[in-house]
Formats: sequence, structure tokens, C-alpha cells
Amino acid sequence: MTTKWAVVTGAGNGIGAVIAEHAVKEGYRVAAWDVDEKAVRAVAESLGDACVPVRVDVTDEESVRAAAAMVPDAPSLLVNNAGLVRFGPLLDLSAADWRLALDVNLTGAFLVARTVAARMIAAGGGSIVNIASVNGLSAAPNAGAYTASKAGLLMLTEHMALEWASGGVRVNAVAPGLINAGMSDAIYADPEVRRLRSGRVPLGRLGSAEDVAETVLFLASDKAAYVTGQRIAVDGGITKSALNAMPRPRSVDSVGVDPMGRSEG
Ligand SMILES: NC(=O)c1ccc[n+]([C@@H]2O[C@H](COP(=O)([O-])OP(=O)(O)OC[C@H]3O[C@@H](n4cnc5c(N)ncnc54)[C@H](O)[C@@H]3O)[C@@H](O)[C@H]2O)c1
Repeated sequence: MTTKWAVVTGAGNGIGAVIAEHAVKEGYRVAAWDVDEKAVRAVAESLGDACVPVRVDVTDEESVRAAAAMVPDAPSLLVNNAGLVRFGPLLDLSAADWRLALDVNLTGAFLVARTVAARMIAAGGGSIVNIASVNGLSAAPNAGAYTASKAGLLMLTEHMALEWASGGVRVNAVAPGLINAGMSDAIYADPEVRRLRSGRVPLGRLGSAEDVAETVLFLASDKAAYVTGQRIAVDGGITKSALNAMPRPRSVDSVGVDPMGRSEG
């Protein structure tokens, strides 16, 4: 049987480590790329021979090319998951923090994707999943650099999907919501924050890294063979619930009611 290779960036921690684990379960050999070499080695050790750890800085094209050259076959799947946050109000945010967020979250995904896509196209196709965020769909306090980078990644996803469709490469984005893992571990260490935030999620709970990984593997699979250029929010409904917090006097619910009680059909 031929080996199916998956490249997962940011696989050393949090959501990326769980995506790598799920990819191995789905029969992929995983090239686990992370700038945090110690962490990605530990993940690979726990996953055995099916996972090959490599130190890669996604912002450095040479580093990306060298790692890609170590994958013996064209990857069937790429997950652009490496990312970071730099918080701060725009008036105070340093240019260095702005550039770092854009560099890792947006430019990094571009550099990795075009390197891997070239091989996918030469081999007849593949699937790319970009890990964006609900912050790319909705502004959030003090997250201007992060939201701009993730919104850019969502549009880049659509552009890649169009450019590479004829090469058989599908490109989709997953936008995780309030996820109790990885970079949010510190936030949800506080039970009160967990309780308050869960209560605002229509599905009534925080998301997990597994929720994200399952959606990624679905998009990678043949079950999604006709899906490209799309974004799926894995967010328990929070991006669809803006009007839930709106004050709702009774009179609102009577608007549009036919006083004669007639109904269609
Ligand atoms: N956890 C959440 O609440 C959440 C919510 C929405 C979106 N996301 C997105 O999910 C993805 C994974 O986040 P996470 O929560 O697991 O965070 P995390 O910090 O646990 O993991 C991110 C990984 O990316 C790696 N990385 C950072 N810069 C890199 C670089 N230049 N080159 C290679 N690797 C680099 C880090 O070393 C780390 O292992 C990110 O893109 C993040 O924006 C996370």
C-alpha cells in the first residue's frame, strides 16, 4: 500500500498535536513540523514510527523547503495550523508584534502551502486545511493583529482554492471558536472563566482540540471530495448567536403576526 503523507504545522502543542494524532489514526504518515523542536519530538515519540518530527520555522522559506524535501512522497494532506497571538489595543501594539502575528499566521501559511501544493499538483492533487479562527470572522477586544491575520488566511484559502482547483488540490479553512486547548489553556485554567464562557455558547460547552481535528480529517477525506474554498466554524454556534444578547421586548415577537390568524400553505 502506498504511504499517504500529511504535513501538520505547529504539531508540537495543543490542537496541532491532536490533529497529528488523528491523522495517524486515519492511516497517514505525519511530518510534524514545529519551531518548538523539543515539543514536536515529544509528540512524535508518543505517536511512534508514523510521525516524523522536524524543526521548521514556517516564516522562513528555506526552512520550509528543506523540510518539504525530507518528505519522500507528495503529501496528500497539509494542515496549516502553526499560529500565535499577540494581544494589545491597536494604539499601543508594537509594530514588531503586528508583524510577528501576520508573519506566522498568514505569511507562514502561504509559504508552506505553496511549497507543498506544487508537489501535490505534480502528483495529481491533495487537500489543504488552514486553521483560521472565529477571530477572523468577528472582531474581538485587543486582538487586532490576530483577527487581521486570520481574516487574511480565510481569504487566502479561497484564493488558493481557485488557483489550485485545476491541479486537483482542495483548500478549505476551519475556524475554531472557544477551544479548551493549546494557546487558550491559560484562559480556561480558571473554572469561573470556563463557566461564564461555556454559558454563552449555543451548544453549551467549550470546544476541544478533538472537535477541530475531526473536522480537519473530514475535510481531508473523500467525503468532502466536492468541497473547496469553504470555511467551517467549529464554534458551537457562537458566530451565529450575535442577536441572542439583544434585549427582546414582547412586542418584537408580535411583529409580522397576521391579526386574522391566516397562515400560508
Ligand atoms: N486554542 C484556541 O482557543 C484556538 C482558537 C481558534 C484558533 N486557534 C488556532 O489554532 C492553531 C493552533 O493553536 P493552539 O491553540 O494549539 O496553540 P499552541 O500555541 O498550543 O500551538 C501553536 C503551535 O505553533 C507553533 N509555532 C508558532 N510559531 C511557529 C513558527 N514560526 N513555525 C512553526 N511553528 C510555529 C508553536 O510552537 C506551537 O507548537 C493556531 O493557528 C491558532 O490560531 C486556536
